[in-house]
Amino acid sequence: MHPATSSLQSDRRKYNWQAHSRVGFWAWLWAAFLLVITLCISTYAQSQAPQTASSDLPPGEGKAVVQRACTTCHTSGTISRKRATAAEWSATVDEMVNRGAELSDEEIVTVGRYLAASFPATPNPNTTTTPTVH
Ligand code: HEC
Repeated sequence: MHPATSSLQSDRRKYNWQAHSRVGFWAWLWAAFLLVITLCISTYAQSQAPQTASSDLPPGEGKAVVQRACTTCHTSGTISRKRATAAEWSATVDEMVNRGAELSDEEIVTVGRYLAASFPATPNPNTTTTPTVH
């Protein structure tokens, strides 16, 4: 074999090896990039979870109805953020029925009671001071 040819061949081998390793580098970079994106999305999804999932609704009779009839237009977070008296909750449920919530008369009562028990009006801070020892 001519010395020049053999050196050319070894050069080509060297070049091919570099090209191959460069592809590997980009593949790894891409994989790392995808991993970071996935982590960001899952972290974001977790931070949003309390608003989108129905886990913010405490257990009780009426929860299933609320999940079915009250989360079609807004999330359960719209409901669980509110604090109101029984009368106010009942008025809210009536309002939502007027807006299109599909509840039977019986369910309106159940849901009103469930919401009043689960999300009662915030107690007056002046009446809930630490009890004094007599
Ligand atoms: C037909 C659509 C629809 C349905 C079904 C629905 N809502 Fe609403 N709700 C709305 C709209 C529109 C608003 C006002 C805009 C907003 O706050 O997202 C609202 C706002 C609210 C609010 C916040 C405002 C307020 O009055 O304090 C609460 C609480 C609420 N809904 C509770 C409920 C409950 C409980 C149910 C099930 C009985 C329900 N919604 C079903 C449309 C609906």
